[in-house]
Amino acid sequence: MERSLVLVKPEAFARGLTGEVLRRIEAKGYRLVALSILTPPRELLGRHYAEHEGKPFFESLMAFMSSGPVTAIVIEGEQCIAGFRSLAGATDPTKAAPGSIRGDLGRDWGQGSTQNVVHGSDSPESAAREIGLWFPELSG
Ligand code: RTP
Ligand code: MG
Repeated sequence: MERSLVLVKPEAFARGLTGEVLRRIEAKGYRLVALSILTPPRELLGRHYAEHEGKPFFESLMAFMSSGPVTAIVIEGEQCIAGFRSLAGATDPTKAAPGSIRGDLGRDWGQGSTQNVVHGSDSPESAAREIGLWFPELSG
């Protein structure tokens, strides 16, 4: 049984879309394991997005992701990592397919950072690492 880390990003949290994202996760059949609302400290975000450190968009990504509360969620189900990435859709919300979370609920707001509603872990290794960062009480 797989687990994945999902984040409802600050812009989507502020627009009141947490419930809609949770609805889609539950409608798909994945189980909610843990949920927390927090404004992520930079230190946590730096570790979460370590793979992007040094890239041109890194600083604007840090600023955007620490700009307000997010909902952090652990979901569970067979192949839920790939399954949630499929529900989320492409990274660029303008190109993400209608029917996907990013395609239906995201758009380009003309901000420095791509605001695309949700994050989802991209591999079992990422999921384990990210769940350990956001929900240390669940690992070990
Ligand atoms: P995420 O990690 O948030 O689930 O998104 P992802 O896998 O679809 O995309 P990734 O390549 O991991 O990028 C992480 C986040 O950084 C922002 N980004 N901006 N060129 C850009 O302006 C750019 N590229 C990436 C997005 O917020 C993206 O979700
Ligand atoms: Mg990613």
